[in-house]
Amino acid sequence: MQRSTAQVEGDTVAYRVIQWATGGVGRAAIEGILRHPDLDLVGCWVHSADKVGRDVGEIVGQGPIGVLATDDPEAVYALDADCVVYAPLMPDKREVARLLESGKNVVTPLGWFRPTEADARMETTARDAGVTLHGTGIDPGGITDLFPLALSVMTSAATFVRAEEFSDMRGYNAPDVLRWVMCFGATPDEAKVGPMLKMLTGGFTQSLRLILDGMGFDPTAEIRTDHQIAVATAMIDSPMGVIEPGRVAAQRFQWDAVVGETTVARVAVNWLIGEEDLDPAWTLGDAGERFEVEIKGDPDQLVTFKGFQAARPEDGWDRNPGIVATANHLVNSIPYVCRAEPGIKTYLDLPLMAGRAHPDLAPKPS
Ligand SMILES: NC(=O)c1ccc[n+]([C@@H]2O[C@H](COP(=O)([O-])OP(=O)(O)OC[C@H]3O[C@@H](n4cnc5c(N)ncnc54)[C@H](OP(=O)(O)O)[C@@H]3O)[C@@H](O)[C@H]2O)c1
Repeated sequence: MQRSTAQVEGDTVAYRVIQWATGGVGRAAIEGILRHPDLDLVGCWVHSADKVGRDVGEIVGQGPIGVLATDDPEAVYALDADCVVYAPLMPDKREVARLLESGKNVVTPLGWFRPTEADARMETTARDAGVTLHGTGIDPGGITDLFPLALSVMTSAATFVRAEEFSDMRGYNAPDVLRWVMCFGATPDEAKVGPMLKMLTGGFTQSLRLILDGMGFDPTAEIRTDHQIAVATAMIDSPMGVIEPGRVAAQRFQWDAVVGETTVARVAVNWLIGEEDLDPAWTLGDAGERFEVEIKGDPDQLVTFKGFQAARPEDGWDRNPGIVATANHLVNSIPYVCRAEPGIKTYLDLPLMAGRAHPDLAPKPS
């Protein structure tokens, strides 16, 4: 059984949490940790030189909380903590392994949604250290796997599952992610070989595999990938700067799980930098920004999720609701992950996880 402060001390002491990176997800996670009744923030790693030594409360626009940011990973590995919210720009397997080896559980939006053969070593590392690694988020890690699985319980004889995002990416104020990971503003040829396809394919095919595993579809299903691009026909303004004509301004990625010639599960994202000046012309449709989950069977279901995208792109720059939702999913999972058996654990292994009531509406401490 793994170590956990709260268990050892009879649920009277909060789980000690470290935040790794303070981008959009990291800052929202810090806010969530500070609000969560069962969690204490005890450390923070930052990449940016100008954040080193700063009080983490001030980094998120609150008053000082007495936790200072460091860029020294060794100092983080040495800290006594139960869990790390690992949310840097790109995943570094050595860092994740060191965090696990140092006896800390890890929750992350950057992978490990469903382990594959390639994760065998990380699984061993987690088990040997007696800790748990859990990948979660919104997309992947929510809309594309957890919600289809949860909704499927009300359909029998399912024949097709679809989870799809429709977003205006002008509301996502992460210029590095937009430019260097997602390849917006690149040439179509660059985007076709950019890191996104590989990164996304890793994450979203894990979502597909979770659906196949959880619902009992043929696990030998072939995964087929499709990537469509539209380019700007005029200068388009965005959080990462102006996108020049001829450069990538809209993308659709689609992953299908195919049994024989039948598509049984589909995950897709439609990411547009606005709906104007695109070639080919492209819109999000009359329903606008949204996430959809569809299940065909007895009966069919179609659920549309609203609220994870900002009403206007600029409303999402400081706190994008989808990014906040991602951070909340990470933060709310921490107590469950700290109590789980060691290894890489998915939604199929963990119990039903829930968010927490507003403090004004929770029982008052006696
Ligand atoms: N699964 C999901 O649903 C989901 C949802 C949203 C995002 N994500 C992923 O989560 C990650 C974080 O997203 P975000 O929106 O928080 O991105 P972001 O706002 O760009 O923040 C990334 C942070 O990583 C740190 N960083 C920057 N350059 C780095 C480098 N070269 N090496 C290591 N760290 C670096 C910085 O931290 P400091 O500011 O502390 O220096 C930066 O603020 C991205 O990879 C994104 O794709 C997943």
